[in-house]
Amino acid sequence: MATTHVHGGIGESIKRKEDSRFLHGKGNYIDDLTLPGMLHMSILRSPHAHARIKSVDTSAASGMPGVIAVVTGELMAQHKLAWMPTLSGDTQAVLATDKVRFQGQEVAAVVAETRYQAEDARDAIVVDYDVLPAITSPDGAKAAGASLIRDDKENQKDNHIYHWESGDQGTTQAAFAKADKVVRLHTFYPRCHPAPLETCGCVADVDGITGKATIHMTSQAPHAIRTVFALVTGLPEQNIRVISPDIGGGFGNKVPVYPGYVVATAASLLIGRPVKWVEDRTENLISTGYARDFHMTGDLALDKDGRITALRVHLDSDNGAFFADAQPSKFKAGLFHIVTGSYDIPTAHITADGYYTNKAPGGVAYRCSFRVTEASYLIERLITNAAIEIGMDQAEFRKKNFIRKDQFPYHSATGWVYDSGDYHKAMDVALDQLGYDELRRDVEKRRKQGEVTGIGIASFTEVVGAGHGADFDILGLRMFDSAELRVHPTGKALLRMGTKSQGQGHETTFAQIVAEELGIPAADVAVEEGDTDTAPYGLGTYASRSTPVAGAATAMVSRKLREKGRKIAAHLLEAAEEDLEWERGRFFVKGSPDRGKTIQEIAFAAYTNVPEGMEAGLEGVHYYDPPNMTYPFGTYAVVVDVDKGTGQVKVKRVVAVDDCGVRINPMIVEGQIHGGLTEGFGIAFMELITFDAEGNCIGSNFMDYLLPTAWESPKFELGETVTPSPHHPLGAKGVGESPTVGSPAAYVNAVIDALSPYGVTNIDMPVTPDKVWAALRAAGVNE
Ligand code: CDP
Repeated sequence: MATTHVHGGIGESIKRKEDSRFLHGKGNYIDDLTLPGMLHMSILRSPHAHARIKSVDTSAASGMPGVIAVVTGELMAQHKLAWMPTLSGDTQAVLATDKVRFQGQEVAAVVAETRYQAEDARDAIVVDYDVLPAITSPDGAKAAGASLIRDDKENQKDNHIYHWESGDQGTTQAAFAKADKVVRLHTFYPRCHPAPLETCGCVADVDGITGKATIHMTSQAPHAIRTVFALVTGLPEQNIRVISPDIGGGFGNKVPVYPGYVVATAASLLIGRPVKWVEDRTENLISTGYARDFHMTGDLALDKDGRITALRVHLDSDNGAFFADAQPSKFKAGLFHIVTGSYDIPTAHITADGYYTNKAPGGVAYRCSFRVTEASYLIERLITNAAIEIGMDQAEFRKKNFIRKDQFPYHSATGWVYDSGDYHKAMDVALDQLGYDELRRDVEKRRKQGEVTGIGIASFTEVVGAGHGADFDILGLRMFDSAELRVHPTGKALLRMGTKSQGQGHETTFAQIVAEELGIPAADVAVEEGDTDTAPYGLGTYASRSTPVAGAATAMVSRKLREKGRKIAAHLLEAAEEDLEWERGRFFVKGSPDRGKTIQEIAFAAYTNVPEGMEAGLEGVHYYDPPNMTYPFGTYAVVVDVDKGTGQVKVKRVVAVDDCGVRINPMIVEGQIHGGLTEGFGIAFMELITFDAEGNCIGSNFMDYLLPTAWESPKFELGETVTPSPHHPLGAKGVGESPTVGSPAAYVNAVIDALSPYGVTNIDMPVTPDKVWAALRAAGVNE
């Protein structure tokens, strides 16, 4: 029997199952874990951005109270663990042996009885450095005479990492030669950080007798990590168990393997006791997966009617000291291919170059599918600038150039196939909700009175849900995902998945998919993720791939079990299978609705009364390799006022219309959008990780790296359209990252629109009051 009257199928805004545990303080995070005999590890980090290591003296530290071991790069090298592979197939130092290449790089580690003792001893390690000049930008990296950062790599002669191209150079050049107008934008998408509430950490527990390594860690992709660990350490994969307990936010920060995980595991192996390592806030901000850091130049070619005829883009990517971007191996600059956005642009050509610099590696796709955010920002900023430059309304210019509904599936100029969309509709809903025409008139009126006010629009297209596996992989692992469903005799179920929620509500939404497809109420479906010993193999949760991939796997495995259920029901009802009809939760005989069997009765029979020759039980697994990505989209509109005297921007309204296809749980989707719009606001106006000329990281704490709180964040007005994905079994597309991808351009476009009467065409993010004030002053506005 069901335990609740609420069925909890698709489209129901049921409350999140996991919240009771979180709200009662019963969440189970890494730092909550204490194992018998557990030791604590603290990492010594480089104070310099670039320096040769002359010596590391651990003698004083080794003798300090509680110290069990001091681990150096040299010791790691003896075990062939001084270097590890990155997610982009480069190498990264685990503990530095030759040089340090960014401020905050891991140099040594102390393992002690308590964290205090480990930190005190860490401070007693003496490292003699020979300081080298630091390089903090791609321009610096390519300058003549620039010092070679990666002198550890045999064939590396300069600081260049990759050159990558997409699109068609010839046709693009020809279109530009014929253009009536060319609009150019050079912009910098600065380095920012996912800054999850919980930092990264682990408890490594290697059993010297059995050889079993259990690593409890903050990982968004436990299975991939297990395989990487097996390859790096040589430990047999069946002896490695990665457990990701509750995770306090990931946003991409918890995808890579960080040196701390490797050192803690090696230390546990050598010492024979569990070792805990948990970063503090500064360690998290200076050394783990930053995002963005793209210098981009875009040109739009236009004809005399305001139609876009071509797009040309060049970008320089600042990759830090090790090329560690989390991205499919075939795409050097990630999914920047989406840069033609929502527009029917006949031809495009994109070039990208990556450079090593003396900054932290990481390049994580912070709440974004592998560089989609930067692409979306560039095209949406260009579109607004072009509209302003040719004197056409921003919304009208977009509508004129949108891909039309009847053009889907749409083949983009960079060779991608958009699955479905209705961009005009999303725009119309947003403009309606905003009251755009009247607001526009109001803006014009107020401008005449000397006020600085504007409206920004961004109509983004996203690409989420990697794979399919033939094109998308991480270090060669194909990007599919999985769901294993086990229905117990009493009709309750356990769903295990290869994904890993970090706050997105998977325990609720994936139970809802089972509720819809198999008819078992969501409350009766337990969802488990994050334990590689129990969950089926999957590539994890990032890049909004869980619903497009694992959500599809859940629907497919539910359907498999339903088909077995049909056979059992036919047996119980003494009817032919083809004479049975399905309604949610029950098979019945066509024409005799009273003669039926519920899924709970069928489950019981699966263990007590199966037809002759049928295997007992009602369980299955499905590995889903999506035929294409999903392409969510939307239109965001932002209204701002600017104070001429201080440069302060006041965000007055934010209207966000999202289309993520069919919504599994509308309330959770709205929560995702609220979160992403807040993060987008922070990136647009507040957050910045930057560096001085010596490579010192500025933005290493929450006094300098400003996150928006409820105090600063604007109010959000949401709207929706629903354009199902034609290839997803439920018609769903991902949504988690859409608002972080789409909103920064909308916020900045509003400021640029406000400043357009003064000839201002760009202010790089974060759009802080001093920059706005300086732009107004340069335009001769004084107050
Ligand atoms: O991979 P990740 O969970 O970060 O992103 P997602 O697939 O976009 O899903 C985020 C949350 O929103 C999950 O709990 C989803 O199941 C839910 N969602 C939904 O209810 N309907 C959609 N069409 C998309 C996501």
